[in-house]
Amino acid sequence: MLGTMGIDWASWLRRWDSQQEGYVPEREARFTAMFDAIEALLPASFTALDLACGPGSISQRLLARFPHAKAIAVDIDPVMLALGQGALGTVDGRLRWIDVDLDRPDWLAALDGAPIDAVLSSTALHWLWPDSLTRVYRDLGRRLPAGGLLFNADHLAFGSRLPTFARLSDGALERQWSDAAFAARGLETAEQWWAALSAEPGVEPLLAERERRFAGKRRQETSPDFDFHVAALRDAGFREVDTVWQVLSDRVLLAVR
Ligand SMILES: C[S@@+](CC[C@H](N)C(=O)[O-])C[C@H]1O[C@@H](n2cnc3c(N)ncnc32)[C@H](O)[C@@H]1O
Repeated sequence: MLGTMGIDWASWLRRWDSQQEGYVPEREARFTAMFDAIEALLPASFTALDLACGPGSISQRLLARFPHAKAIAVDIDPVMLALGQGALGTVDGRLRWIDVDLDRPDWLAALDGAPIDAVLSSTALHWLWPDSLTRVYRDLGRRLPAGGLLFNADHLAFGSRLPTFARLSDGALERQWSDAAFAARGLETAEQWWAALSAEPGVEPLLAERERRFAGKRRQETSPDFDFHVAALRDAGFREVDTVWQVLSDRVLLAVR
C-alpha cells in the first residue's frame, strides 16, 4: 500500500527490519525479552516511550502485543520519522511520533507532560556521548514513577573489571557473527538500504534535513560500556539495574525506578 508522498513506506520498513537483523542477528528475540518482562511487571494498560525509535520497530511490535498500551516514539531523524509515520500511522490513536534531539537538555519538554510507565530503546543509545547519556538517564529517573521500567537493548561492552570478557566484546567475534548473519540470510547492509532509499523520488528534502541535523554530531569510537550504563542508571535513581537477556555483549539492560 502506498503511504504519504506516494512512497511504499511499509515495504521500506520491512526492508529496514531485515538489514538490522544483520547487525543484531537475535533482534526479534531481544524485542521479545523486553515485552515478556513488561508483561510480567506492568499492568495491561501502560504508556511506553520508544527512545530514539528509528522507524518505530519497537512501537509496532509492542502495540500489536499489548492492545491496551500506548506508545510515544521519539527520534531526531526526519527520514525515520516519515518512514515510521508513513508505515504505521498512529495505530488507532495509540502511537504518537515526536521529533526530538536527545542531545538537547530540554528534550523531555516535547512530551508535554505525558505519563510514561516504561522506556524502551534498541540499537540506539550508543549514539549518545557520556554526558548526554547520563543526562537522559537522569531526566528519565525523574520522570518515571516508582516501579517504572527502562530497557536498553544494545551492544554494551564488558567493562575493564572483566578483562577476559572484554576481549569478547572488542568487536572481532561479534563482527564474525554479524558477517555470518548477512551472508546466511543474504541481507543488504544499512549503507545499501540508505542508498536505495535515496533513489526514491521525493525523499531528497528529508535526506537534506537529516544531513543538516547530523552534521554537528560525531560518532564515538568507543561508546560507554556496560559498567558505565549501570553506574549512570543508579546515579539517576534507578533502584535495580541488571541484564535480563544477553548474547555476548548484545544485551537488554533493565533498570527499575
Ligand atoms: C539504528 S537506529 C535504531 C532504531 C530502532 N530503535 C531499531 O532498533 O530499529 C538508531 C536511531 O537513533 C537515533 N538517534 C541518534 N541520535 C539521536 C539523538 N541525539 N536524538 C534522538 N534520536 C537519535 C537515530 O536517528 C536512529 O533513528
